[in-house]
Amino acid sequence: MKKEVFGKTPEGTEVNLYTLTNQNGITVQIINYGAIITSIITPDRNGQAGDVVLGFDNLKDYLAEHPYFGAVAGRCANRIAKGKFTLNGKEYTLAINNGPNHLHGGLKGFDKKVWEATEIPTQNALKLTYTSKDGEEGYPGNLTVSVTYTLTNENELKIDYEATTDKATPINLTNHSYFNLAAGQAEDVLNHEVVIYADRYTIVDEDLIPTGELPLVAGTAMDFSVPHTIGSRISQVAGNGYDHNYVLNNSQNGKLGLAAVVHEPQTDRVMEVYTTQPGVQFYSGNFLNGSLTGKGHVYKKHYGFCLETQHFPDSPNQPEFPSAILNPGETFQQSTIYKFSVQKNNLK
Ligand code: BGC
Repeated sequence: MKKEVFGKTPEGTEVNLYTLTNQNGITVQIINYGAIITSIITPDRNGQAGDVVLGFDNLKDYLAEHPYFGAVAGRCANRIAKGKFTLNGKEYTLAINNGPNHLHGGLKGFDKKVWEATEIPTQNALKLTYTSKDGEEGYPGNLTVSVTYTLTNENELKIDYEATTDKATPINLTNHSYFNLAAGQAEDVLNHEVVIYADRYTIVDEDLIPTGELPLVAGTAMDFSVPHTIGSRISQVAGNGYDHNYVLNNSQNGKLGLAAVVHEPQTDRVMEVYTTQPGVQFYSGNFLNGSLTGKGHVYKKHYGFCLETQHFPDSPNQPEFPSAILNPGETFQQSTIYKFSVQKNNLK
C-alpha cells in the first residue's frame, strides 16, 4: 500500500491518498477526506488500463461543491422527508439541504469529514474511522463508524461498514461512486447495459420521497430485471432520468446477494455489485451539467451512473420499510462488493 500527502483542509489537517493494488493490475485510490474513492483503474478487454470512476486529482476540488463523487454518504444516505422523524416518542429535526428535505447526512455529512486511517497491509485493506457527535446535523447519539476498503485478487473492491451508538439513531451508509466503465472512451453512460435484480422499486413523489408503495417494475421503463441500456428508455422516466431505489430480490438477512451487473460494450468492462443491503439507488447522473471537470473530463449530464447500495430512502418515516435504526448495544454491519471483469458478450 502506498500513502502520499494529498493536501490540507482549510483547518490545516493533512489528507492522505492511499493506493491499493492487486495481482491483476487493478488499482484503487482512496483519501481519508469523505472516505472518498478517487480512482479505480481496471483493464479493458485489450488489457488497456482506464479509470472507471468520476472525481478529481486534487483536494481543492473535493473541498469545493460536488455531488458526492466517490464519497461515503451518512449518517443517513438519501432523503429524509422535511428532515424530520420521531424515534422512541421524540421528534428530531435534521439539517435541510435538498429542497424541503434532508439529503446524504446534511450540510456537513460524512462525505465532508476527515476520517482516521489505519492501513491493514496483510489484508490489502484500508480502515477509515469517524466519530459523529450526539446532535451532529440533528442526529441523536455519539456514533462511531468505520468503513473498510479491501481490494482482493478476485478483482473485488469490498466495502465493509460498521457502527455503534450510545443512543438509538437512524443510520444508512452508502458509497456514492459515479462509474463510467468506458473510462473516458464515451461521453456518457447511456450505452452501458444494466441488470438490476429487483422486481419492485420505491415509487417517489416530486421531491423524490417514497410514497410507501412498492410497485412492480414489469412492463415499465424501470424494469432492469433483463438487460437494457441506460439510455434505451430513459426518456420515458418521469423527471430527469433514473434516480430511484430498487427493492433487491437477493437481499436476505444480511447475506451478500447479487444486486446488479453492468457491461460497457466499447471496452467490454463488466462490474457486478453484491450487497447485504435491502436496496440500491440507481442514479443516471441526471444533475451533472458540465460545470465540473475532473481528471481531464467534463462531467456532462449522464457522464456517470451510481449504484448506491442502501436502506430505502426516508426509512425513519416509513414503518413498513426495513428498519434503519441502530440501538445502543447493537453493531451496525453492512457490506458491498464492486467486482470488475471483462466479458465480450452482451449481458443475457
Ligand atoms: C440522489 C440524487 C442526487 C445525487 C447527488 C443521489 O443519491 O438520489 O437525487 O442528485 O445523489 O447528490
